[in-house]
Amino acid sequence: MLHLTLPLLVALLMPMHTRLARSEPAVDAVVTSSPRELRLWFEGGMEAHFTQVALRGSAGARMALGAPVRGSEPGLIVVPVPMTLRPDHYTVAWETVGRDGHPMRGTFRFMLAAPDGTIPHAEMPSVVDSSAWGAGTAGRTVTGGAVSAEAGPEGRSTRSASQFARASRPVRWVELTALVTALGAVALLLGVLRTGRGGAAHERFIADAVRRVTILGTGGAAMFLAASVSRFAIESQTLHGGSGGMSPGSLARTAATGWGRAWVIAAAAMAMLLVVLLYRQRAARAATGAPAPRGGDLALGVAALAAAIGPAMTGHAASAVSLMPLAVLADWLHVIGASAWVGGVAGLALAASPAALAQPPGDRAAAMAWLVGAFHALAVPSIALVVFSGVVSGWLRVGTWRDLMASNYGDLLLFKVYLVAFTALLGAYHWFRVHPRLMAAAAGDDRTARHLQWTLAVEVAVSLFILGLTATLVTTPPPR
Ligand code: HEM
Repeated sequence: MLHLTLPLLVALLMPMHTRLARSEPAVDAVVTSSPRELRLWFEGGMEAHFTQVALRGSAGARMALGAPVRGSEPGLIVVPVPMTLRPDHYTVAWETVGRDGHPMRGTFRFMLAAPDGTIPHAEMPSVVDSSAWGAGTAGRTVTGGAVSAEAGPEGRSTRSASQFARASRPVRWVELTALVTALGAVALLLGVLRTGRGGAAHERFIADAVRRVTILGTGGAAMFLAASVSRFAIESQTLHGGSGGMSPGSLARTAATGWGRAWVIAAAAMAMLLVVLLYRQRAARAATGAPAPRGGDLALGVAALAAAIGPAMTGHAASAVSLMPLAVLADWLHVIGASAWVGGVAGLALAASPAALAQPPGDRAAAMAWLVGAFHALAVPSIALVVFSGVVSGWLRVGTWRDLMASNYGDLLLFKVYLVAFTALLGAYHWFRVHPRLMAAAAGDDRTARHLQWTLAVEVAVSLFILGLTATLVTTPPPR
């Protein structure tokens, strides 16, 4: 047993995010002969095409290097050094892009000793680090207590990269909200609003709810595609250092990265979902009065599951240094659970409960009670899935209590958990207090049904906030 658990524990304690693992010459090494090449090993995956390396002597002069090429080992980048270097202190500055699409940058130094073994004196930065540009701390060099932001090897300014990261947050918020709405609508259509489930009494109400939820899901899918295209444009500009990222060649190069390929799969899945939902809307219009059309259930389910993997493949999980498959699986299940729960609540509030309230006065409370009961069966396992997968993802990204308490990422995560707890309490209130009152409501008394619509709206508003917080979380470098 120990031989199985020990490697797992060791892997769990390893850093998660793309980083420079080692180099030749090594960090702070003293070498005695001029290196013929620089070798950099990255963990967590990187895009060779977007990797740049610069070498400077202590006077700041930049050495002309050969083009970086992918080495024979995984994660290895080799940069030829065509000239013979003279004894000096050297700084290597590197930029690359992780599998999650985040630009990373860092610097390290090495010394070349004279033939007699002495190292020339030079004023050099005392601390160098590597980090994601988007954090606003990229490539920080600490000299004599002052912190200054540096340009990368190609002179791309840190400021513009972090501006792009900030610009992407609202887009991520819209994108995640749209994703959860579209997938929540699918969860309601496939898991709750099944024709015949509510018996003859609810047939008409269910048909109307299906129609409204289908429209909501269509809107969510269309909004996701629009936000996703904006995110692609921002990513391309980040990778290519500005508006040059919008040229056809740059866009094609962005699409050819690991991030770009995952983006294409998620966008194609959502486009398929949109087409199936539009087809169902047309079919519903053509068959007014007939039972709600159920065509394409399988396609809808497959497209929804494929679209749900998009965030995992284009986010932090994809660049995990260790246990990457587990990180992606946890993130995928998290998005599925979050969509079924929170997206389902949005579908109830915005589409299904208005359908219940559109019923004749005598049927409203009963329709609403049926809706809450049917949704409860979907919500409970979804909440369990969200919490379990969220804790696994949180553990993989944060790792220690100290980092949870002392990092920006940890603060955001804890705040998110408080808000999720509040939303879960609201759900419990609906089930334990409102549902029995709906069941007991006299025919024609729709006050509880209307009250429920209000409290569902509050749940949706808090969920929007949670998604905004999540958009910040996924654009903040995790501690590991
Ligand atoms: C105990 C509750 C929860 C915990 C501990 C938790 C934790 C996490 C963590 C650690 C991530 C990964 C962020 C990253 O990639 O760096 C994440 C992502 C996410 N969470 Fe939660 N979460 C919880 C509940 C929820 C709820 C209720 C929702 C629904 C609104 C939600 C929606 C999302 C979404 C949409 C993502 C984005 C996935 C991605 O882009 O990779 N989470 N969550």
